[in-house]
Amino acid sequence: MTDHLEPDRATREEWNRLVAGYLDDWLDGATEMDAHAGDLDQATLERLRRPPQEGGRDPEDVLADLDTAGQAGILHPSGGHLSYIPNAGLYSAALGEFLAAGLNRYTGIAGAAPGFSAIEHGVVDWMTSLFDLGPSASGLLLSGGSMANFTGVVTARTTVLGDDFGKGKIYLTGHTHHSVSKSARLAGIRSDQIVKVPVDENRRLDTVALREMIAADRAAGDRPFLIVASAGTTDTGSVDDLHAVADVAAEEEVWLHVDGAYGGFFILTDRGKKRLDGIHRADSIAVDPHKGLSLPFGVGTLLVKEESALVDAHLGRGAYLRDEDQYMGIRDIASLGPELSRPFRGLSVWLPLQLHGVAPFRDALDRSLDLAEHAYQRLAGMPRIEKVWYPDLSIVAFRFEDDEIGRKAMERVNSGRRVHLSPTMIEDRFVLRIAVLNRRTTREHVDHAIDLIAETLG
Ligand SMILES: Cc1ncc(COP(=O)(O)O)c(C=O)c1O
Repeated sequence: MTDHLEPDRATREEWNRLVAGYLDDWLDGATEMDAHAGDLDQATLERLRRPPQEGGRDPEDVLADLDTAGQAGILHPSGGHLSYIPNAGLYSAALGEFLAAGLNRYTGIAGAAPGFSAIEHGVVDWMTSLFDLGPSASGLLLSGGSMANFTGVVTARTTVLGDDFGKGKIYLTGHTHHSVSKSARLAGIRSDQIVKVPVDENRRLDTVALREMIAADRAAGDRPFLIVASAGTTDTGSVDDLHAVADVAAEEEVWLHVDGAYGGFFILTDRGKKRLDGIHRADSIAVDPHKGLSLPFGVGTLLVKEESALVDAHLGRGAYLRDEDQYMGIRDIASLGPELSRPFRGLSVWLPLQLHGVAPFRDALDRSLDLAEHAYQRLAGMPRIEKVWYPDLSIVAFRFEDDEIGRKAMERVNSGRRVHLSPTMIEDRFVLRIAVLNRRTTREHVDHAIDLIAETLG
């Protein structure tokens, strides 16, 4: 009997041809692609949700469904994507994911695939060296920034407080990504254990207030254990004064986690390195290849200064597992984080770094910094724009004299679909952002958005 789950070589070649051809057509159009594809009607959405049939379908029909499904929403590969945190995706990383899934080797336990585990550790070692985290540093690849922040919070909680964390306190700001508060909740920390520290006029964590709040909490019998600083906030791309925050963390013997999910990889550039000065003093850092390195969604990283902290927080034991949690000096990745079975994420980072080298990633990040600077220079001189914050990295945030005109400007830009912007609220005011991180973004995309804003302002 033929096993339909085991396609023969001719069938595999045919499927590969169809899938690769479809993707090639899509990628050939990426540079010119609009940033928003519009909407699908209700009937189409319902058709796309229908359950599978007993028998398989023609692959071309299946791809046609996929094509229909893709004709809606934000098109991340487009250089016009200037909203949220852009991410173009990377063909070489897609090949890495294809290979990882096709080879289907298990990388949770080092002994199961020692060579592959070494490759993944090598990618993490490269990152710990970028951030100069020292000889005991380690880390692991997770699904994204949220899981990296979560794993950081759990590690801090276990290291500083052990099992008794009912009086623990976390310090963050109103600009800290919401995944940190969510992580705290998932880690069993109540909302009254999360302290919001004010920011200064540059939207950076106010370390004077931080010191006072920690002192007040200690006096009340609470146990401060974690400060979360941002190396690139989602709203405005701001980088906290990392040395000043690290000084407080050191004096208070509190864990310092830096959320660099968006901004961390700017460390590759000279300008970014200066702006992230002090990040090496963090106990843990979240940094996302699926943001700063342009990888497809699904790869974030948590780095830590002391590997033992990760192991103490995550080591699990089962009769069905070996006693050792390493093989020939290679640590089991499963003992560093929450996952036991996991995809071989290291391949989708390693393959692009091997095929392209590091330099093109640095160049792409440098271009994003240049374009943000260009956007800032243009916006700063425009009438009816009340305030433009100087971009610490590659997000330019700006506020209008009147929120309504700001909303109209955004609608004007987004209705054209060539570029796409998303807003935020700061101190109850409407703030628009131009977020540059997609390597396909050109000066023309940025100018197009700003021209439409200028037209709306009159
Ligand atoms: C600063 C920051 N931290 C964390 C996250 C969460 O990352 P993810 O969406 O990969 O879970 C984001 C997402 O945009 C972010 O910008």
